[in-house]
Amino acid sequence: MSGGARTGLLSSVTAIAREAGALLMHYFEKRVSSGDKGYEYKGDVDLVTEADRASEKLIVDRLRAAWPEWGIVGEEGTREEPAAAGGACWYVDPLDGTTNFAHGYPVFCVSIGLEREGELVAGVLYDPTRDEMFAAERGAGATLNGKAIHVSTTAQLSESILGTGFPSHKRHKNPNIHFYHQLTLRSHGVRRAGSAALDLASVAAGRYDGFWEFNLNPWDTSAGVVLVREAGGQVTRFDGSPFRIDSREVLASNARIHAELMENFAAILAGRGLEALPSPVEYAKNRK
Ligand code: IPD
Ligand code: CA
Ligand code: CA
Repeated sequence: MSGGARTGLLSSVTAIAREAGALLMHYFEKRVSSGDKGYEYKGDVDLVTEADRASEKLIVDRLRAAWPEWGIVGEEGTREEPAAAGGACWYVDPLDGTTNFAHGYPVFCVSIGLEREGELVAGVLYDPTRDEMFAAERGAGATLNGKAIHVSTTAQLSESILGTGFPSHKRHKNPNIHFYHQLTLRSHGVRRAGSAALDLASVAAGRYDGFWEFNLNPWDTSAGVVLVREAGGQVTRFDGSPFRIDSREVLASNARIHAELMENFAAILAGRGLEALPSPVEYAKNRK
C-alpha cells in the first residue's frame, strides 16, 4: 500500500514497456491489415508470433543494459541468472494475450515484474491498445497513467464481477470449467478476457472484484500481483496460503470478498453444494 516514495526505477521500466507496446502495435496493425495469421504452435494450443520474440528481445536488451547485475527470466526463452546468488530478477512476459493478438482481438499487454530477495517488489504492465500504463512499487502504491488506483469496494461475492482464464497446456486435465460454472451462478458474472496480466491489473483498478487461475507462470503474475497488493487488494493461493512467484494457483481480490472466495473454493474443491450443469441432450429434446 502507498506510504513510501517511488525510486527512479519505475520511470525507466515504464519507458521500456511503452517502447515494447509500440512494437507490438506495429506487428498487430500489420497483421490485421494483411490478414496474415503469422503464428506458430509451441504446444497443443499454445501460440507464439514474431511479435512475442521481437518484444522479448527489445525488453531484455534494455533491462540488461540498465541493470547488468540482475537476472532476467522471459517467457520466450531468456534465462539469465543474477550476478549474485539471491540477487534481483526480472520476469518478462513480452506479450500476454498472444492468442488474442494472433486472432486480431485487441486485448493484450506487456508485463514486467521484479523480484528481490524472494519478494515481488515492482511491476509495470502496459496495454498499448488503450494506452494504459499500470505501475507499482512495494510500499509506494499503484498507478494507472500516473494516477493512483484502488481496488473496488464490493463487499459480497453475489454482487461481484470476476475474471479467470484457462491454461493452454494440459487443458483436458484442468477442472476450471467447474469453477467457472459455479462462480458464474454465485456472482454478477465471470469474464475470460485472455490476458492474465491484464486481469490482475483489472482487479487493481477496481474493474474486477476478483480473479483466479490455475497454472500460471511467474511472467504472467509478477507485475499484476504487485499492482493488486499496492492497490489495497489481496493475493493468495486458493486456500489462503501465501502466494509465491512459483505458486501454481492464484486468487486475487479486492480483499473484502477474499474470505468468501476462499470458502467457495474450499466447498467446490470438496464437491459441496455444486449446482448441476444442465444437460444439452435434455435441452435438445424440449426445444421449441
Ligand atoms: C496466457 C494468458 C491467458 C491465460 C493463459 C496464459 P500468453 O499467456 O495470460 O489469459 O489464460 O494461461 O498462458 O500465452 O498469452 O502469454
Ligand atoms: Ca502470459
Ligand atoms: Ca506471452
